[in-house]
Parts: sequence; structure tokens; C-alpha cells
Amino acid sequence: MPQATGYLAYLPAPLPPEPPVELSPETIGLLSRADQALGKLDGIAALLPNPNLFVGMYVRKEALLSSQIEGIDSTLDEVIRFEEGQDAPEGKRLRDTEEVVNYVRALNYGIRRLAELPLCLRLIREIHAELMRGVRGEGKAPGEFRVTQNWIGPQGASLANATFVPPPVPEMTTALNNVETFLHERNEHPARAHYPVIIECALIHAQFETIHPFLDGNGRLGRLLIALLLHERRVLSQPLLYLSLYLKGNRLEYYDRLTAVRKNGDWEGWTQFFLKGIEQTAQEALETAKKIISFREQAIRTASSLGSTEAKLLEFLFGHPLTDIQTAQKHLEVSYNTSAGAIAKLANANLVREITGKQRNRIFRFTAYLELFEESA
Ligand SMILES: Nc1ncnc2c1ncn2[C@@H]1O[C@H](COP(=O)(O)OP(=O)(O)O)[C@@H](O)[C@H]1O
Ligand SMILES: [Mg+2]
Repeated sequence: MPQATGYLAYLPAPLPPEPPVELSPETIGLLSRADQALGKLDGIAALLPNPNLFVGMYVRKEALLSSQIEGIDSTLDEVIRFEEGQDAPEGKRLRDTEEVVNYVRALNYGIRRLAELPLCLRLIREIHAELMRGVRGEGKAPGEFRVTQNWIGPQGASLANATFVPPPVPEMTTALNNVETFLHERNEHPARAHYPVIIECALIHAQFETIHPFLDGNGRLGRLLIALLLHERRVLSQPLLYLSLYLKGNRLEYYDRLTAVRKNGDWEGWTQFFLKGIEQTAQEALETAKKIISFREQAIRTASSLGSTEAKLLEFLFGHPLTDIQTAQKHLEVSYNTSAGAIAKLANANLVREITGKQRNRIFRFTAYLELFEESA
């Protein structure tokens, strides 16, 4: 629709889509496979020893991949080093890593908060505040919906040659209220017919990207919403799904599918694309969980055969997969030499590896474990 100032902005139709999303046999097949994969993933969560420890790694992985989609340049090691208070690898800026750490905090915050209130606009703003806190986000109105027009386009594009101009502020507000109503529908009228939860996730994500209610962080927030909705609707008791792996691997199609929803109302195409991603990443996350379980058993056996300090050190490494001799020493309450000796033994057994190549401030990486989370796609 042309605006007073002459540019064309997009006014999103409300949810649920009209006509309704067609549940063709193909879509139903994809839905049932995605559901099954999520069910298996949720089942294995109960088998994870010390789930918090392992789920934390999944959350970091999702945070990293979702941030990478937006060009944020960081790695799992950098995120862990930042959290451990270690120096960043030489020549790396901390800013990008901080944004990933913010994402981890925002997701954990959202999950905690869902115990107190339903997924709603207020919670969305609170999570945005967590995500954008600090460096780059500060100037981008953290926690506030925009009060000016924005647009999506290649770097340096202006309103005039933007790829996509989201709704003006008044229409944005209407569309956001509609999203909230749509989210509450299921809570308020559980007996009515609703879209299956995974399809609801697909609808909410696409609609959120079209509304683009923040000055920045819309992509990441929209992806956080998927994890939070799966949690709120009790599809996954823990945030174990890293869907961003799929969205990153298929980034161009991801954007094209969103565009087709807006341009042609192609909700079916977007939904199918989304369901495929859920099945694929749920299966991968399940494989990862199985590997963690068997790796852990085997590593415990190896470390225990080396000695009791080594066994304790191993347990510590699962929570702190990048560490140094002093930190381990403090935790194990042993002498410096005992700590260094235990680390050397685990290094001999190929469980850890020194990564700095230096003589001082050496960092040991629990490589055998971290490899299980390394990107496969
Ligand atoms: N053509 C498009 N139509 C709708 N949404 C789009 C389109 N292209 C990109 N997007 C969405 O916009 C996001 C980027 O928006 P932005 O506010 O910069 O988020 P972030 O700061 O998290 O990068 C992408 O991740 C994608 O979800
Ligand atoms: Mg951005």
C-alpha cells in the first residue's frame, strides 16, 4: 500500500491465514514425521544425565547458529571462553561473541519467565531487552517496539529501493495485537480446533518477520519464539532443537519462502519448508544426544582407570570444556602439579588438547566432547 511519503509498505493480513493453510497429504506426511522426531528428541532428554549441563550446550549451539544467520562472527569455543572469563583468541573482537552470549541469556530468560506468564508481547519485549543489552544493541531501542518505519534490504539500501518495507507503526501495532490474540487462543479456548503446534510455530515465525517490530534483532527474536513456543506448548520440555542449523544451511530459500508468504500468500510452501527443517534438526539433535550418552560412559571408564583425580577432572570438564590448570586445580582442590598431571593424562588419552600453543596461560580443550556439537551440515 502506498504511504503518504510515497513508498510502498506491506500490511500483513491477520492470523490465522485466510484461506486456511491447506493440509495436503504431503503436508500431513511432513507434519507427522516432524512430530515423531520431536517426540523422540523429547524422550531422550529424560535419559540425559545431568540434563542442565548438556542442554546448555544445545542452547549455545542454537544461539551461535541463529546469530551466524545474521552475519555475527563467533564460534562455540569463543562463546565458552567468554563465559569462562578467558581471553578471546588473538585478533578476535568480543562484540560478536557478546551478542551470542546475550542470545543464550535471552533464551534461558524466556524459558524461566514462561513459568510465570504466557508467551505475549510483554515477554517478547523483555526477551528483546536481554538479547540487545550491551554494545551493538544499545542504540537499537532494546525492549521497545519501533516507533519509526524500517526496511529490509542489502547493506546501504534505502527505503526507496528496499527489498521489503514492513508495516508502518499503526498497522504494526494492530498486527502485533493480532499475534498476541492468536497466541492466547489456544490457552483460552483449548477445546476449539487449532493448528498443530509445529504449524503454529511456522505461522508465528513468518508473521513476526513480516511485522519486523524491532529496529534490529527481528530474525533472532523470531527464531527464539520457535523454541519458546515449543516449550510453552510442552512439545519439548527442554530447548534441545537447533532449527537454526537448517535455516542457516538453507538461508536463501528461508528468505524466499518468507517473501512468497507475503507476495503470494504461500503459507503451504513455507509450512512445508519449516516442517522439513524440524524433522531434520530434531533427528540430528537426537543423534547428538545418543552420542553424548555413549561418549560419557566411555570417557568415565577411561578416566576412572587413570585415577580418581582424573575421574573428577572429567566431570568438571563436562561443565567447563575449556579450562586451564589453575581453574581445574581450584575446583579439584589439589596442588598445581596434581592438576597439571591429571590434565596431561587426559591429554594422553586423547580426551583433551592444549589449544594455545603457548607456554603460559595455556587452555585445554575437551575436544572429544566438543566435537559432538560441531556443525555437521
Ligand atoms: N524478504 C524477507 N521477508 C521477511 N523477512 C525477511 C526477509 N528477508 C529477511 N527476513 C528476516 O529478517 C531477519 C533479519 O532482520 P533483523 O532485524 O536484522 O534481525 P537480526 O538483527 O536478528 O539480524 C532475517 O533473519 C529473516 O528472518
Ligand atoms: Mg540485524
